[in-house]
Amino acid sequence: MRIAIVGAGSIGLLWASRLSRLSYEVTVLTHTIEQHKRIVQAGISCEELDGQVNHTNVTSCPIEETSELSPFDIIFITVKQYQLQNVMELIQRCSLPFTQILFWQNGLGQEKAIDELQHRPDTYVAITTEGAYRKSDTHVVHTGQGETWIGTFPHQEQWKPLLQDFVKTIQPIVISPIRTENMILKRMWEKLAVNAVINPLTTILEVPNGELLSVELENIMEKLTVETCQVANRIGVELDHSRTIKKIREVCNLTSQNLSSMLQDVQGGKQTEIDSINGAIIQYAKEHKVPVYWHEMLYTLVKAKEVHNKRNTNTL
Ligand code: PAF
Repeated sequence: MRIAIVGAGSIGLLWASRLSRLSYEVTVLTHTIEQHKRIVQAGISCEELDGQVNHTNVTSCPIEETSELSPFDIIFITVKQYQLQNVMELIQRCSLPFTQILFWQNGLGQEKAIDELQHRPDTYVAITTEGAYRKSDTHVVHTGQGETWIGTFPHQEQWKPLLQDFVKTIQPIVISPIRTENMILKRMWEKLAVNAVINPLTTILEVPNGELLSVELENIMEKLTVETCQVANRIGVELDHSRTIKKIREVCNLTSQNLSSMLQDVQGGKQTEIDSINGAIIQYAKEHKVPVYWHEMLYTLVKAKEVHNKRNTNTL
């Protein structure tokens, strides 16, 4: 079976390493020619939770040179939300009408990309709370155990056997369970609610996730979550406020030493995912006339920080 992984960030590298340990033909599609060359030379090293390093060789190709590739059976899209538009044409080109396509983004926005592929019956959203960190172009560190849910999107009662078998086959190589989920939209909002609190707050304060529990942030975390739940409920997604707050505290505990992906982006002078996290909540809130002052405030602060850090990184 031929599998493509589009985007070699932390989640892309983690999955490329895992899948290439099975008998799949894995191709990693990279944004840059430099990363492609490094992967060809060095393969991928994956540092597991117990410190063991797994080394695998995988095929790689820069996204801009994919015109000659034959279609794939399964495509993992692991680029960030704001990069999705740049890979839509590639997805069309590298897939057959029944290729199974899995979207692995944080936040919201993949629904619109999936909409663009409307003639395809086999699109899925994967939501994961696993932690991973890209140490270099070829080295990924698995930093936190979590859960992964995969669901058909838009919702379909029936799963295609190909993906069902695939999920069964990969289960033994991952410590964290992979579940098939009938209510993936709810999972997307649950994860969004977690990211919409942890990511901007850790970014503004420049602290690891666990620190959010040890400073006086109860009130802000509470207010942000109430706003998220109000927006979700308004669009028909049932999110319970106390369960969501509990989940956020749990994730802070489980990933206490981690730097959130947003903080890592800002520190690296990169664009953050604020638009597809708090920005997406603000967008839905506007459409449905729900006030979300706390999300608006954090959105503005993170945007300011993003610009400031990009400027500083460029002048160093
Ligand atoms: O974006 C992240 O960093 C992660 O999704 C999470 C769950 C906040 C843990 O760091």
